[in-house]
Amino acid sequence: EFALLNGEIIERSEAKVDVEDRGYQFGDGVYEVIRVYNGKMFTLAEHLKRFVKSAESIGISLKYTSEQLTDLLRNLLIKNNLVTGNIYMQVTRGIAPRNHVFPTGNVPPTLVAYTIKGVRPLDNLKTGVRAILTEDIRWLRCDIKSLNLLGNLLAKQKASEQGCFEAIQHRGQDVTEGSSSNIFIVKNGTVITHESNNLILKGITKDVILDLCIKNNIPVIERTFSLAELDEAEEVFLSSTTAEVTPIIGINGKKIREGVPGPITKKLQELFEKEIE
Ligand code: PDD
Repeated sequence: EFALLNGEIIERSEAKVDVEDRGYQFGDGVYEVIRVYNGKMFTLAEHLKRFVKSAESIGISLKYTSEQLTDLLRNLLIKNNLVTGNIYMQVTRGIAPRNHVFPTGNVPPTLVAYTIKGVRPLDNLKTGVRAILTEDIRWLRCDIKSLNLLGNLLAKQKASEQGCFEAIQHRGQDVTEGSSSNIFIVKNGTVITHESNNLILKGITKDVILDLCIKNNIPVIERTFSLAELDEAEEVFLSSTTAEVTPIIGINGKKIREGVPGPITKKLQELFEKEIE
């Protein structure tokens, strides 16, 4: 297995992080997870755009253009023979004596990428998953794909301990997003998902789904929805790079639609499958 470290593809076991890397000490960096289907990176341009935007929003400037990053990732895929799986990529502010203040001078960011083999989650896609509700305790810049994921981790762990796949987070009465996914409901036949603002990550999969709705005349709207609307929803599903369009069939122990995926969710899964072929 190989990994990408600062522009070079090296043995994964040789790719090491310094104890004073700011990503390691402060979570001072951003990341992306990119899906690979049949050896091809799905929605790569969108991921790279978000990566650059996340980095810029915390004052990290990447030393590579999107074209260079594309080439580097492609070479990594080939080196690792990755057919189906994910690429994890992150950039940190680099290595410097520990200080909350950003380092001055020419500290190069640390860029790392590696691949993870993994098949599509066919069982979850077919039967759906269960979720819990939890208060969203995260910061107010959830639009940045930051390495700081403690709030997300605590939420996901809580779900896992209750035998659930995802934690649906809410700020007061408003549903925001999952711990590592975006959340959608269907109400009166309309697909509803939180608008992409500072309170959620603008999911690449979410944007693919919105496009699919528009192209296929499925009514869709981006707006905040409440816990009450979630409770009364005809269908609920989540989306992410790794989970695609996953039906949610129960929340806090209460079944949705007798615990079977709904027709609009299934239609969107079908349309999504066509995108990744
Ligand atoms: N997570 N919201 C959060 C908080 C996320 O962490 C993710 C993705 C999403 C969905 O975004 P996208 O469709 O671009 O994957 C929404 C990735 C997969 C992860 O951290 O593993």
